[in-house]
Amino acid sequence: MNKSHPVFSPMIQGYWRMAEWGMNTQQQYAFVQQHLELGITTVDHAPVYGPDSACEKMFGQVLALDSSLRDKIEIVSKCGIYRGEGKQVNHYNSSKAAIIESVEQSLMRLNTDHLDVLLLHRPDLLMDADEAARAFEQLKAAGKVKHFGVSNFTPAQFDLLQSRLEAPLITNQVEINPVNLQVTEDGTLDQLQKHRVQPMAWSCLAGGTIFSDSSEQAIRLRETLVQVGEEIGADCIDQVIFAWVMRLPAKPVPIIGSGNIQRVQTAVGALQLELSNEQWYRIWVASKGHGVA
Ligand SMILES: NC(=O)c1ccc[n+]([C@@H]2O[C@H](COP(=O)([O-])OP(=O)(O)OC[C@H]3O[C@@H](n4cnc5c(N)ncnc54)[C@H](OP(=O)(O)O)[C@@H]3O)[C@@H](O)[C@H]2O)c1
Repeated sequence: MNKSHPVFSPMIQGYWRMAEWGMNTQQQYAFVQQHLELGITTVDHAPVYGPDSACEKMFGQVLALDSSLRDKIEIVSKCGIYRGEGKQVNHYNSSKAAIIESVEQSLMRLNTDHLDVLLLHRPDLLMDADEAARAFEQLKAAGKVKHFGVSNFTPAQFDLLQSRLEAPLITNQVEINPVNLQVTEDGTLDQLQKHRVQPMAWSCLAGGTIFSDSSEQAIRLRETLVQVGEEIGADCIDQVIFAWVMRLPAKPVPIIGSGNIQRVQTAVGALQLELSNEQWYRIWVASKGHGVA
């Protein structure tokens, strides 16, 4: 990984749902090997994935099986969300002490000495940008985190934190899918394109609901995705959706949520597909239920 510009794989494997995949450590290790073979070297984690941070812990056990694995992957993890036992309410905390403590815990669970990328998971109304920046500086100086970014931030929140940092924030990880067009409309993707910062796209398949939802929007979307898929030679509508996300000019890097390696392979196939402007807008129109002006 280049020092100032991290290199991600063209798609990222997400591990939010890992605890639901019903795999033992050997099967998880095989899954990691398989997505590495498909060219997916970047993995996405967070302390809040799985009960009691189960997903980071499981991944740490996988890394402990093979000492050569860590150098083949880039690990993204996050900090800032506090929920569960012992908390009166779920809340955010991006104080310097909380950020540093959260990273220390992630490193221990993941069995590694560094994260490639740390993201502030959600905008914290109490974030003091100077303090968060000092936490980043300390973690970077200690070699514990190489790069920093944010997730679910508005452009103003992104700019505020960036104004206190010397190194560029390297991403804003946001929800992008044909059901939820928010970041295409509220300036989030425009700002990232302006700064040439690649977003990471979460829930590209709307958490799987796009395949099963009975709303009129979902039905229209499925019909159009099937038609466009036939035109571009896609194997299934999953591929069309990933191609639709990647067609955005901010160049989002999709995070794959599936624990099924066939579906991961299918997703990677979307890298070979290209949508025309009109095909992209047909999917947009299907989502909106009306045409452009
Ligand atoms: N920063 C944030 O706030 C944030 C929030 C949410 C997620 N994320 C990250 O983004 C990653 C991806 O999010 P996501 O898991 O919501 O992604 P997603 O791709 O939208 O949804 C994945 C779900 O869809 C199912 N699925 C996939 N293909 C399917 C098909 N053809 N038919 C039916 N179901 C299908 C998967 O089941 P199978 O496993 O059975 O294939 C899985 O349950 C997460 O792992 C996490 O790393 C970040």
